[in-house]
Amino acid sequence: MEKVGFGVIGCGRISKNHFEAIRTLTGAQLIAAADIDPQALEGAAEKYGCPGYLNYKEMLNNPEIQIINICTPSGLHAQIALDAIQAGKHVIIEKPMAMSLYEADTVISAAKKAGVKVGIVHQNRFNNAVVKLRHAYNKGDFGQLTHGAAVVRWNRNDDYYAQAPWRGTWEHDGGCLMNQSIHIIDLLQWMMGAVESVFAYTATKLRKIEGEDVAVVVLKFKSGALGIIEAATTIFPTNLEETLNIFGSTGTAVLGGIAVNKIEAWRFNGEDEAAVLAEQSAVPPNVYGFGHKNLIEDFMEAIANNREPAINAEEGRKALEIILAIYHSVKYKKEIKLPLREEFTIGVDNNYAQHSEYRKKLVCS
Ligand SMILES: NC(=O)c1ccc[n+]([C@@H]2O[C@H](COP(=O)([O-])OP(=O)(O)OC[C@H]3O[C@@H](n4cnc5c(N)ncnc54)[C@H](O)[C@@H]3O)[C@@H](O)[C@H]2O)c1
Repeated sequence: MEKVGFGVIGCGRISKNHFEAIRTLTGAQLIAAADIDPQALEGAAEKYGCPGYLNYKEMLNNPEIQIINICTPSGLHAQIALDAIQAGKHVIIEKPMAMSLYEADTVISAAKKAGVKVGIVHQNRFNNAVVKLRHAYNKGDFGQLTHGAAVVRWNRNDDYYAQAPWRGTWEHDGGCLMNQSIHIIDLLQWMMGAVESVFAYTATKLRKIEGEDVAVVVLKFKSGALGIIEAATTIFPTNLEETLNIFGSTGTAVLGGIAVNKIEAWRFNGEDEAAVLAEQSAVPPNVYGFGHKNLIEDFMEAIANNREPAINAEEGRKALEIILAIYHSVKYKKEIKLPLREEFTIGVDNNYAQHSEYRKKLVCS
């Protein structure tokens, strides 16, 4: 069987999960990698045995590549995705899929026009614990959902933010919501359903960044259920928890661990909680978890069977919209109702209009 060719753009921290997944998936073949940093590029090209490109646009001309994995700073995701789509490639985009709804919608419509698929990396949906949780939800085991709480109590110190100039900036990253907490926000909305409104306070307490390092949010879901998000990268001295709590009239589930991988509470009629807690999956080596491989495999199957990937662009857009609504709640000091107007973008300062204009200059034929 002919292998599916991959090209990875951006060879930094998260790219390793993509390279490793491609290396170990039957049917996948790494064709090339691209990075503007010669050292990062050389390291990846040598380790994974592929040619490297300093200009990703040249790599997009390679006809052996069918899938592009975008692992660059977040502010570049949409433009690179559009370039790849215009070159006829399917794209897997690291989270967040874009920094504004305008960008996200531009990517969605460009992919539809080109007939290519877009997948967004919310790999925690593939964690065994999360798969079990979703299965319980699908069976109706929770009864009526009453509320859900998502908590990210992590430490990202000054050294972390100093690693690269894009980190913590409004243009390319955002704060602890858009970067670190988007995964659990994705899971919260996946379980609780569409969000009706959000009200939030955020602050930048300890880190020297433009974005927030602490956030508290209350949510109303369209179902009438309520929600809470508490997010921080200020926790002393190291990561404490990433936890999803889902409560219903006939079910209680709490998932924690370092990457929402561990079942902490599992209370349903007729289920043996002790047995469930005793049967935990392997602990992942870091907060990225094990999900990239399953997500990329699902994406390959989606292409082969001409179906949508498990987390397509419309799915990835949902967590983005919630976070943008939260930023707007902070900016306008009020409850914000969803859906947002499509031009909403991030930025809570005087540069707001500038960001918006900048984002609208995206090239898309
Ligand atoms: N799914 C997850 O759990 C997860 C975890 C970490 C990061 N991420 C996301 O992955 C993305 C990258 O994060 P990271 O921590 O790997 O960042 P990083 O800074 O370690 O790596 C980014 C790489 O992109 C390269 N780059 C920058 N501009 C480029 C361009 N124009 N063309 C090609 N390469 C370019 C940089 O030189 C760098 O090597 C971010 O969007 C982040 O939010 C996702």
